[in-house]
Amino acid sequence: MSEYFVIGLDIGSATAKAVLLDNEGKRLAFAVRPTGGRLVQSAEDVKREVLLQTGVSDDCVKAIITTGYGRDIIQNKTKSITEITCHAKGAYVMMPEIRFVIDIGGQDSKAILLESDGQVGRFEMNDKCAAGTGRFLEVMARTLGIHLDEMGDMAVRSEKSSKISSTCTVFAESEVISLLAQGEEIPSVVSGLCRAIAERVQALVSRVGVVPPVMMTGGVAKNKGVVNWLSKTLRQELIVPEEPQIIGALGASIIGLELIKRSKGSLDKIIQNI
Ligand SMILES: Nc1ncnc2c1ncn2[C@@H]1O[C@H](COP(=O)(O)OP(=O)(O)OP(=O)(O)O)[C@@H](O)[C@H]1O
Ligand SMILES: [Mg+2]
Repeated sequence: MSEYFVIGLDIGSATAKAVLLDNEGKRLAFAVRPTGGRLVQSAEDVKREVLLQTGVSDDCVKAIITTGYGRDIIQNKTKSITEITCHAKGAYVMMPEIRFVIDIGGQDSKAILLESDGQVGRFEMNDKCAAGTGRFLEVMARTLGIHLDEMGDMAVRSEKSSKISSTCTVFAESEVISLLAQGEEIPSVVSGLCRAIAERVQALVSRVGVVPPVMMTGGVAKNKGVVNWLSKTLRQELIVPEEPQIIGALGASIIGLELIKRSKGSLDKIIQNI
């Protein structure tokens, strides 16, 4: 029977994620829900969901570590930690040999170089522009009238890849509409969009300088089209964990556990240690 539990909460611009660990670091449950602009509510929902899945009560949760865009507005947290640190920690825990993390979420893309001991070395983030992020794909899926989760397979199966020259989401959207009007097939356009993201992210990655092995995290890692194009553009194999979207929340939960272990179980001591 576990003595206590910790929760990592990653409140992103697109989705809220929770991971519940036991005191031995075993991942017992995770949950992902769209934030839909309701950061606090979605954080509460994913937290409840992991507790319900496992039957763990609130009192047995010894630390809640928050990360992501909404990390500071969550009440009752033990500590908030940046996404860079949490994604690096999550990736390192999954695979200690990982030296580079590419996280593509709904609003940000991040390129993070890890030292061999898992500490964050250099990193770069995109400039709050939707190009090169999941938001770009969301806008385009809507324009094309297709689902986000079918884009990856569609791109991978397409023999053709349309040239999308605009990097700006708004201009790229008009470009997509005119490509369709010229008779371009949807799969070819989708492949072109995945390639456009890959090229944008490659520029970010090259500012840091890629070192293999490379792990891709964030929801966009579920899109095989982007993964394939990025792998080709970088000339690197990309390791995609089974649940790439929860790596930040996993990292946050591990940091919570480390804080507790370091302070031998007292929450007051944890807070003093931070
Ligand atoms: N099943 C899926 N198939 C393809 N793409 C997906 C799928 N689920 C999510 N995505 C992509 O993942 C994106 C959201 O990723 P994620 O949940 O990592 O974002 P976030 O952490 O909320 O955002 P950020 O870190 O930028 O604040 C969506 O915009 C979408 O493009
Ligand atoms: Mg994120």
